[in-house]
Amino acid sequence: MGKIIVNGGNRLNGEVNISGAKNAILPILAATIIGGNESTLFNVPNLRDVEIMVKILNSLGCRVKYMEDIMWIDSKPLNKVEIPEELVREMRSSIIFMGAMLSRIGEVKISYPGGCEIGPRPIDLHLKALRELGAEIEESHGFIHCRTKGLIGTEIQLDYPSVGATENIILAGVGAKGTTIIRNAAREPEIIDLQTYLNCAGAKIKGAGTSVITIEGVDKLIDVNHNTMPDRIVAGTFMVASAITEGEIIIKNVIIDHLQAISAKLREAGCLIYTDEKSLKIIGPKKINPIEMIQTLPYPGFPTDMQAQIMALLSIGTGTSIISETVFENRFKHAEELIRMGANIKTFGRIAVIKGVKELTGAKTTAKDLRGGAALVLAGLAAKGETIVENVYHIKRGYENFHLDLKKLGADIKFIKA
Ligand code: EPZ
Repeated sequence: MGKIIVNGGNRLNGEVNISGAKNAILPILAATIIGGNESTLFNVPNLRDVEIMVKILNSLGCRVKYMEDIMWIDSKPLNKVEIPEELVREMRSSIIFMGAMLSRIGEVKISYPGGCEIGPRPIDLHLKALRELGAEIEESHGFIHCRTKGLIGTEIQLDYPSVGATENIILAGVGAKGTTIIRNAAREPEIIDLQTYLNCAGAKIKGAGTSVITIEGVDKLIDVNHNTMPDRIVAGTFMVASAITEGEIIIKNVIIDHLQAISAKLREAGCLIYTDEKSLKIIGPKKINPIEMIQTLPYPGFPTDMQAQIMALLSIGTGTSIISETVFENRFKHAEELIRMGANIKTFGRIAVIKGVKELTGAKTTAKDLRGGAALVLAGLAAKGETIVENVYHIKRGYENFHLDLKKLGADIKFIKA
């Protein structure tokens, strides 16, 4: 399982390069099976979730080779319809293969992904949309069996701008006959990256990044190269690392526009942020201002994936802050761990009230999910004494070399294999 040990108190200083985005590469890896074509992907992050996606591609018969951050996939040999249950259980976002498999071969069998640490994570919006596109879906014994003689494009109104459901509909729409229109689509930048990859392969998609996306079905996709967009949540996490240690960090290979909501809140907390074309400098304040209200929202609102990190920062703010987690039902598990470190946090359902304390003290803590685990490491950077973060495999799902990058920036940090 592994643990990270941090001795707090060092101000971080230096430069960090941001890797490719986990939440962009995962749907793109699913998309590589649609055309039976070859895809060469650049800036692919080395993450546990990417490894699981590669295992699924291999289990379906696809050929995958990768070296450092370049990955080559040949999906021509695909010859299976079932996604292995143990892999779906390891990574619930493998549900994204449904739309791609229906586009490629008109059938897929996948176990119900089930909930995870941050909530029940239903997939009703995915299934409703795929049925509207003409898929016959049977749910029994914990499995979902989807079949179609051919998907037919249609207009789909999403009840909620679900990222995964939007992506699944795009992947299904590429192989459908006619035109599919998604209304109330998710606007996350990772969906623009998926559109870019697919259009380079010959798909005809427009509107990604807005709430209306149009997909015209095509019969063929060609070989394609794609450079994965940088990870805005990893970038935001390092921004908080600078903020919480009164540091001065230059973050390279970012898309400034993707960080607007995060930057706005960190400026409210007292950070100085200077930007140029593809990088930014963030200087953490001596005193961290409280933030009256942070509401997590679908993009372009403040991202739920940054909620735990900003809660760690506000734990040592000079006043009381409120966080409203509107996206997930149960995403405050890191609060009880921060309280072990001396934070003064009270949660009421999806509302957390954080009363800043002068100083956190190092403690033995446990990561309960990906972003909560990262937040505990951030808190450890500022805490007095030694902080241990157990179950670091959560963090490895979404951060490449997290502790090594922090060490390069001056943190007193190490990773201990279990
Ligand atoms: C994606 O998850 C991201 N994961 C999440 O990042 C991110 O937190 C989330 O979008 C919101 O931005 C990937 O991209 C792999 P949703 P996804 O469907 O697609 C409810 C991380 O830390 N919902 O937009 O699962 C759902 O329960 C991860 O990198 C339904 O009710 O998110 C949730 O409350 C965590 N029915 C809300 O919508 C459905 O059919 C948002 O979920 C689908 C979703």
